Amino acid sequence: MASPVSAAPQHPTPAPAWLSEPDDANALADGVWPADAARDGDGALVLGGVTATELRERYGTPLYVLDEAEVRARARRTLDAFRAAAALHGVQARVYYAGKAFLSTEVVRWVTEEGLAVDVASGGEMAVALAAGADPSRLGFHGNNKSVAELERAVAAGVGSIVIDSLVELERLAAIVARTGATQPVLLRVNSGVHAETHDFLATAHEDQKFGFSLEDAPAAVARIRELPGLSFVGLHCHIGSQIFGTAGFRESAARVVELHAQLLAGGEIPVLNLGGGFGIAYTSADDPTPIEELAVGIAGAVAQECEARGIRMPNLAFEPGRTIVGPAGVTLYEVGTTKPVRLDGDATRLYVSVDGGMSDNARPALYGADYSARIASRRSDAAAALVRVVGKHCESGDIVVDAEYLPGDVAPGDLLAVPATGAYCFSLANNYNFLPRPAVVAVRAGASRVIVRGETIDDLLARDAGVTAPTEGNA
Ligand SMILES: Cc1ncc(COP(=O)(O)O)c(C=O)c1O
Repeated sequence: MASPVSAAPQHPTPAPAWLSEPDDANALADGVWPADAARDGDGALVLGGVTATELRERYGTPLYVLDEAEVRARARRTLDAFRAAAALHGVQARVYYAGKAFLSTEVVRWVTEEGLAVDVASGGEMAVALAAGADPSRLGFHGNNKSVAELERAVAAGVGSIVIDSLVELERLAAIVARTGATQPVLLRVNSGVHAETHDFLATAHEDQKFGFSLEDAPAAVARIRELPGLSFVGLHCHIGSQIFGTAGFRESAARVVELHAQLLAGGEIPVLNLGGGFGIAYTSADDPTPIEELAVGIAGAVAQECEARGIRMPNLAFEPGRTIVGPAGVTLYEVGTTKPVRLDGDATRLYVSVDGGMSDNARPALYGADYSARIASRRSDAAAALVRVVGKHCESGDIVVDAEYLPGDVAPGDLLAVPATGAYCFSLANNYNFLPRPAVVAVRAGASRVIVRGETIDDLLARDAGVTAPTEGNA
């Protein structure tokens, strides 16, 4: 007779190679959590001076929590790092916050107050930045398929720079400025053939993807921009990928893009070189991202070296970090609903811990196989650590929140679970799969909390359904 499946796994499945069993499955790994995250005397997680249990009582779960001091500190540190690195070579650096990582009016205010400009990637993102009172002249506008209406709005608003991604867009914009009499500063996005993803980079002659112009096609596009009186060419733009560790990919890309920049100087001054974002963060204790100061010095140094080798003046630099500003400032709180040991081949079992959100509030594990970590947030536990998989409540077996993590083995329904490093690309990519309302975003700071984006209700979702005939129930 088969033995009954017990509550605790008897033959746990092996952990992935990168994950080691912690000495303390309550510990908050440095760099993965906001700097001020701690546990109080009762063992509850405290974020920005507010306990996770208090946040659950007040706002419910799932809940996105954003640590305002952490966002501000990261914005300041990043700006200081790039300014200092540029100053070593006698040039200036501008840092745009890449709003796609997390955009709300409040976050735009935080980062602009800390001195950052903002990069937006759609008319909707532009509307959020403008609604926050951002200075339009400090906005950069991205996208591979900006509509005529979006471009018209950007020109009318006085957006500081538009990053041109195709010839079709170039002519669209040319027609708009010819009609309105405006002069629009533009950059040209190029594809350096260098693609960096996670801890590695790949360099090819051409990259088979949708963004930007190849290095060969760019000169003709720049020549066309330069012959149009309503467009002012301010520089090249290149973004090589995301979650990048180390400077090797940036150095290779800088060498290629500076070569093009040097050629284009024959046609006139080019004040700026924008090298995009992509700076990596720690999602788990196994990640060891390069400090931003080191990246900044390495990248600026590479550009300086390439310019010197060609005998040209170094341009001012621009960067577009998103994840590194907001990622580690965000923590998602969930409530555990069920736990289940699942029997695997060879008598092993895996403990599945189901929470009340999932791929609708964090699509990254399903989209990219992204790894996260987790901790029980409502209490400390001395139970032996058990390897678990945290899953959501969606009808999809790929609905994984944390693929592999050690939690105290007595993790149980009703526990509050916190997943750190969810500040970037979780709220932005949130969806309503299975008609789950998107969670609220609460900012914490100095012991106080407040909603900065309200959570959706089921009535919000039903309000879009043109066929609803019966009154809805005011269901939150
Ligand atoms: C053009 C551009 N700039 C900046 C970013 C921000 O990247 P990250 O959040 O990894 O810094 C992205 C991300 O996709 C991007 O496409």
